[in-house]
Amino acid sequence: MSSDEQIAQAAQHILNHEVVGMPTETVYGLAARIDSELGIAKIFATKERPFFDPLIVHVNSIKQAQDCTREWSAGADVLANHFWPGPLTLVLPKADQISHIITSGLDTVGLRWPNHACAQKLIEAVGSPLAAPSANKFGRTSPTTAQHVRNEFKDSVFVIESEPSKIGIESTVLSVKTRIDNNEMQYDLSLLRKGSVLKSQIDQLMKQSNLGYRWKESTDKKEAPGQLKHHYMPSIPLVICQNDKIKLTEVIELLNQKLNLLPDEVEGVKMIKPKGLVKKIEFLNLPDDANLAARELYAQLRKASQRSAQAICYIPSKKHTGEMWDSIFDRLYKAASLVLS
Ligand code: TXA
Ligand code: MG
Repeated sequence: MSSDEQIAQAAQHILNHEVVGMPTETVYGLAARIDSELGIAKIFATKERPFFDPLIVHVNSIKQAQDCTREWSAGADVLANHFWPGPLTLVLPKADQISHIITSGLDTVGLRWPNHACAQKLIEAVGSPLAAPSANKFGRTSPTTAQHVRNEFKDSVFVIESEPSKIGIESTVLSVKTRIDNNEMQYDLSLLRKGSVLKSQIDQLMKQSNLGYRWKESTDKKEAPGQLKHHYMPSIPLVICQNDKIKLTEVIELLNQKLNLLPDEVEGVKMIKPKGLVKKIEFLNLPDDANLAARELYAQLRKASQRSAQAICYIPSKKHTGEMWDSIFDRLYKAASLVLS
C-alpha cells in the first residue's frame, strides 16, 4: 500500500473512532480524534494508561493550536513560530472544546505540531487535531518504528508504515504561564520533560525576542503528572552501573541479590525484574554522538531485551555530557530497575 493509501485508510479508522499508530519525528504515537470520546477512551484502554496522565494534542498549523487554547500569548507565539513544526510541546491554558479526559482534568493542554509528513497529512485528512501519546504500554519503552508498535499491540492497531523516528526520544514539554508585572507581560517557564529542544535554545530565543521570563521548577504532581520515577522500561531489567571498575561477576552477584528485593510496583508502574537467576548480561553501547544515541536508544533497549540475557547493563561514559545527553539520561534512569553506584 502506498503511503497516501495508508494515510487514507488510517483517517478512515480514526473517523470510525478507532486508534491508529502514527509516525512522528520523535517517537510513534497512538492517535485518535480529540472530539471522539470513544477514540480517546480507546487510547487509555489500549495503552493501559491511568487517567491522571494527560495526552498531547497534535496540530497541523498555528491556527489549529490557537483554537485549542483559551489564551495564545505573545510568548507562545514566538516559541511556536520558532520551534514548530518540531519536537516541542507547549502546555497552555486549554479551550473549552478540549475534553477533560484529554487533559486529565487539568486546565491546560499540551500542544505540538509534529515535523513529519505522515502525521501532518493524517491530521489534514481527518480534519481535526489528534490526541496521541507514545504508542507503548504505560511505563514501557517508547516505539521508534512501525514494527515496535505492532509488537506492542499485537496487530490490534492499524499502523502507518514509515521510516524509524529521526529524533528517537519524546518531545520537550514546556509549560508557559503568563503574569502581569509592572504592567508588562512576564512568562513563567517550566521544563516538564527534557527533550531535543534544549533549555539553552529556549533561553536564547526568549532573550532575542525581548520577552521577560523566569524558569520555575515544577514539582507539583498535579501540574506535571507525567514526571514518574519509572517509565520507558524494557521487558528485562535495565541496570545502570556507575562504577566502571566493577567486575562482571560482581555485577551479576549484586543483581541476583538486589533485583528481587524491588517492590512489584512504583507509582502504578510495574517494576521489571528478572524471570529467574541472572546469568548473562547484555551491554548497552550507545554512540558518542548524542543525537545518534537518542535515535538508537529505544530500539537498542528493545533489541537487548530480545536476546538471551536476563538483564541489560549500561555504564555511563565520561564522554557523554551536555544537554542532549541529560535528556537521554532522563530516559535511562527512569527505564532502570536498579542503579549500582
Ligand atoms: O514526542 C512526543 O511528545 C510523543 C509524540 C507521539 O508526539 N508523545 C508523547 O506523549 O510522548 P506521552 O503521552 O507519552 O507523553 C506526554 C507527556 C506526559 O508526560 C504528560 O504528562 C505531559 O506530556 N503532558 C501532556 N499534557 C500536559 C498538561 N496539560 N500538563 C502537564 N503535562 C502534560
Ligand atoms: Mg510516553
